[in-house]
Amino acid sequence: MRKLRVAVASVLAGGLLAWAVDTQAQGAGKLEIFSWWTTGGEAAGLLKLFDLEKKQHAGLEIINATVAGGAGQNAKAVLKTRMLGGDPPDSFQVHMGKELIDTWVVTGYMEPLDELYRQAGWDTAFPKGVLDLLRHNGAYYSVPANIHRANVLWYNKTVFQQSGVQPPGSVDEFVKVAEALKAKGITPLALGDNGIWAATHLFETVLIARLGAEGYRGLWTGKTDWGGPGVKQALETMVRMLAYVNTDHAARSWDQANELVIQGKAGMTIMGDWVDADNLARGFKDAGWAPAPGNAGIYDALSDTFGLPKKTPHRKEALDWLRLVGSREGQEAFNPLKGSICARTDCNAKLFGPYLQWAMEQWKKDSIVPSLAHGAAAKESWLSAINDAMSLFVTSRDVAQAQKLLAQAAADSGVGKK
Ligand code: GAL
Repeated sequence: MRKLRVAVASVLAGGLLAWAVDTQAQGAGKLEIFSWWTTGGEAAGLLKLFDLEKKQHAGLEIINATVAGGAGQNAKAVLKTRMLGGDPPDSFQVHMGKELIDTWVVTGYMEPLDELYRQAGWDTAFPKGVLDLLRHNGAYYSVPANIHRANVLWYNKTVFQQSGVQPPGSVDEFVKVAEALKAKGITPLALGDNGIWAATHLFETVLIARLGAEGYRGLWTGKTDWGGPGVKQALETMVRMLAYVNTDHAARSWDQANELVIQGKAGMTIMGDWVDADNLARGFKDAGWAPAPGNAGIYDALSDTFGLPKKTPHRKEALDWLRLVGSREGQEAFNPLKGSICARTDCNAKLFGPYLQWAMEQWKKDSIVPSLAHGAAAKESWLSAINDAMSLFVTSRDVAQAQKLLAQAAADSGVGKK
């Protein structure tokens, strides 16, 4: 009898122990998420996702591995060192399109996610155009959290009203508005290119204005000549616009440039819609927006996505994270704070502020083109050659030299060659 009691007790104890270990394994996992989301609006969106993830997985410890600097200006290099050194985070922020596919997928660093897509029914939850940019050889490689719009002109409504100007629809109108602001002692255009990507970002909106959607797309397929008159005109336009930027642009970040607009020291800035999130986080309610000059009807798009690196230390937790990122609940919580619209097609528009509701409408009807500065249009080596050309150009303002460098960068990229 006593023996039996001992045996039962030990089975029970073993069971309890196994149960305890099991719950611990299920509940108290770890998850390291790598991104460059550190500014007010960016962090707000990310932390909201973390909250949801923790609610769904009690006891989960999330390591928020961020490296500050817009557009991943510093994060991408840190990530590369980690990935190449065999020390991947569990999941990381990566742009849809060339950045994902050329940098990480064809090089063999990512796991395909077809099983996850199948389980979650994501084949039909996202637009086809987005899905196509996440696929390689028929397999899915990351989960889109959002869609951002890069070509937005943000302005201070009071400053515009007091200066008697309207948001400029074209480049010529931009110059008129800029002159009017300048006459009032206001910096017309705020730029923060301490990471040169912000100048490239401005330039891509000017390329769109000068080449149109078709011509701009052709830059990435070899159909539009980088040495041709359209690009020359775009560079000349850049020179005109750069004449109106703050003198300390090279010392500021994109959000420090937006600060000039918030303070009314500058009239406008041309930047992606993460500015909407920045304004929200800072409680600034006086921002107006319009397509960047000459960009009406064209949506210059990018998407922040998360993937699953091979040899990730916490695979189960990483897959749970990806499930949340792609879910309706996750996207409806994250995007209103992040200044982006859902990549999914079934989000409730009422949860979003006025700018984002406008963006959702444009997304449905505009012609969509891929962003250069944010990884969709060109592979990273090509983008970094363009960034180098822009670095020189913003100081030299030498159109011929810049065009030569851009044409060379295109040739080096192998664009248009089979
Ligand atoms: C982009 C990114 C956005 C936003 C922005 C500024 O590259 O896709 O989510 O964070 O950089 O940092």
